[in-house]
Amino acid sequence: MVQLMEEVPRDRMFNEGYPYFSSGSAFMREHFEGLAKRFMGTELTGDDPFIVEIGCNDGVMLRAIAQSGLRHLGIEPSGSVADAAAEQGIRVRKSFFEESTAKEILEADGPADVIYSANTICHIPYIGSILDGIAALLSPNGVFVFEDPYLGDIVDKTSFDQIYDEHFFLFSAQSVAAMAARHGLELVDVEHLAVHGGEVRYTLARAGSRTPAPAVTELQEQEHERDLHTLDTLRGFGSRVLTIRDDLVSLLRRLKKEGKRVVGYGATAKSATVTNLCGIGPDLVEFVCDSTPAKQGRLTPGVHIPVREASAFSSPYPDYALLFAWNHAEEIMAKEQEFREAGGQWILYVPDVRTV
Ligand code: SAM
Ligand code: TMP
Repeated sequence: MVQLMEEVPRDRMFNEGYPYFSSGSAFMREHFEGLAKRFMGTELTGDDPFIVEIGCNDGVMLRAIAQSGLRHLGIEPSGSVADAAAEQGIRVRKSFFEESTAKEILEADGPADVIYSANTICHIPYIGSILDGIAALLSPNGVFVFEDPYLGDIVDKTSFDQIYDEHFFLFSAQSVAAMAARHGLELVDVEHLAVHGGEVRYTLARAGSRTPAPAVTELQEQEHERDLHTLDTLRGFGSRVLTIRDDLVSLLRRLKKEGKRVVGYGATAKSATVTNLCGIGPDLVEFVCDSTPAKQGRLTPGVHIPVREASAFSSPYPDYALLFAWNHAEEIMAKEQEFREAGGQWILYVPDVRTV
């Protein structure tokens, strides 16, 4: 298991002030709506099915389920986003999911046919309690489906900015299979996803209840063959990170010398890793624009670059935009075509530093 060694107390990260609203990306809205439809056509076709989502955020996935009148429950500790979900008629329980929560849900609502979680399980250090809770709450033939950034993509793309306080675990098929087995669960399917820079959607079921798909063995064998977990592989990753750091800092210093304006695009959690590792502050990047109202008017962690509203980007356009939200590149570049037409260039740093 590739994981952090230091844990930030959960109430400091997930509270009333939590600023990440999942519905901020049109592409991600489509991604989750598509999955909701898929669940409704497969796992949720029985008699009065019940789906639980861990970390439902602003309801980006459960919205479609709630509109269809299916029994559902979102578990979301961050008041800011939980309230946004509840306002849309989604049934939300404002708490952290863990074993005790699972038992309370089981008593009140009965077992779940689907337990789903996106970009949340990797945030949770008390993973043993989570999996015991899932084993308690899942119906005999139910599935626990979760998707998170994939270690294989992180190593392939040198996307070191996926490593930050909230991302406690960087999962692989091998680590998930081993983790599941300790709690009477089994990895029965894996699906590689292009979202957020490369993720895997893992399906767990009670051990022996379903036949594992061939993709499970295939991905584990692939990880084994490429030595995904050896120290050499991870040391190679580490040295590529330092090359990116040096290249990015040289480029930004050169642009500053040439008198070019550079701003950041997307005050992402990921960007805090980049700016703090590289020592990039307001001297090199004037401000970061972001469409999330809760982030605007604040400073980025550690290096204190001002965060401004999305419209600041075009008034006037900078010469270069450092794309911190590179995982949304397609959506953002399509939206900001005028920036390119005005002569602007994007700076990317994953998998290597370049301008486009
Ligand atoms: N599922 C959404 C998505 O994929 O866009 C939201 C992901 S967001 C990065 C992580 C979410 O997990 C936050 O809304 C946070 O409040 C929530 N969270 C953190 N710990 C949790 C826990 N123990 N139980 C339920 N939700 C949790
Ligand atoms: P994420 O990479 O963790 O999903 O965060 C993306 C951040 O980028 C989030 O703060 C919202 C912001 N953003 C914009 O400002 N404009 C956009 O068009 C998109 C897709 C995201």
